[in-house]
Amino acid sequence: MVKVTLENVSKSYGTTKAVQNFNLVVEDEEFLSILGPSGCGKTTLLRLIAGLETFSEGRILFNDRVMNDVPPKDRNVAMVFQSYALFPHMTVADNIGFPLAIRKTPKVEVDKRVREVAELLKIEPLLNRRPRQLSGGEQQRVAVGRAIVRKPDVLLMDEPLSNVDAKTRAYLRSELKLLHKKIRTTLIYVTHDQTEAMTMSDRIAVMKDGELLQVGAPENIYEHPKDVWIASFIGNLPMNFFDCVLLDRRGVRVIGGACFGPQSPKNLMELLKGLPDGAKFKLGVRPEDIDISKSSTQGMTCEADVQLLEPTGDSLVVTLNVNDELMKARVNPGFKLKTDEHVYLTFDWDRAHLFLSDTSSKPKTTEQHQ
Ligand SMILES: Nc1ncnc2c1ncn2[C@@H]1O[C@H](COP(=O)(O)OP(=O)(O)O)[C@@H](O)[C@H]1O
Ligand SMILES: [Mg+2]
Repeated sequence: MVKVTLENVSKSYGTTKAVQNFNLVVEDEEFLSILGPSGCGKTTLLRLIAGLETFSEGRILFNDRVMNDVPPKDRNVAMVFQSYALFPHMTVADNIGFPLAIRKTPKVEVDKRVREVAELLKIEPLLNRRPRQLSGGEQQRVAVGRAIVRKPDVLLMDEPLSNVDAKTRAYLRSELKLLHKKIRTTLIYVTHDQTEAMTMSDRIAVMKDGELLQVGAPENIYEHPKDVWIASFIGNLPMNFFDCVLLDRRGVRVIGGACFGPQSPKNLMELLKGLPDGAKFKLGVRPEDIDISKSSTQGMTCEADVQLLEPTGDSLVVTLNVNDELMKARVNPGFKLKTDEHVYLTFDWDRAHLFLSDTSSKPKTTEQHQ
């Protein structure tokens, strides 16, 4: 099948640099998500891969073959768009079979392949309907059916779940992941939704302002985000950050975060080892790595007042006020807390992240020192 290599790819529209110096190898049969906020160049990148845009700079290869000048119809690439772009006057069967029909595939073969795809996507009962007689989730499946009917080498999906309701989206996430396991085509999936990227992909490529910031397995990016921006973009709740200055070596006394006293925990010291006095840095702690206690405990990090409680069913999200700085913690849903209650926090320093002021620097975690 096909490994996709992007080498120094750039694309500008006038003065807008939509994609800049993008280098990425998508392995054969991989499910890779391109994750980034709206306007960061995701669609442009997919259109370059599909051959719908010309390159300003760089090369694209499918396996060892340079594809820059190969027209879209000869790339064996299929794309699912955000809008689905189904033909309203055609039945579901004709929509799915369309890419084969325009290539003059014999009708018996088209019918056979449409039935196979409909079975795979569990939409056989819908084959005679028209798009307006379908729900959003059903339309999405038809669009996927039309994309996979020709057995593409590379399947491109551009935010295909953004037009369906939250519940259907969660369901379709699992469906798409299962589908990929069955058809085993190289899949490049564009999304601005970190949950989609985290739950479905083999690897995530994080993109911002046309540039690739970090690429890795979902758990790797979650555990070792390369900078503050990625750390706050990945995770259901954003990471808490504390602006700090290291005051001296005897104990870590930092300002800003205000709560890290001279009796600093050993593993926080370990995390900061090697930084000079006066160094500026950020500490990042995820809400799920903060423990709340009703009484003072040994080794606790700081005291706080409960400002807001947000039960989500499977957890309780607590907004905490620490010396007028707000942070969020996620705790067990059964934990009984009241607004304005005074509580004691313990951070899991083994899972804390250190970001040097230069945000391009790699964060360290204490795990890496051990
Ligand atoms: N055809 C175009 N002409 C001019 N500017 C464009 C064109 N397509 C995209 N852009 C610009 O390129 C940037 C990236 O757009 P896009 O790839 O659509 O981002 P995303 O899909 O991540 O939201 C945006 O600033 C957008 O306005
Ligand atoms: Mg887009």
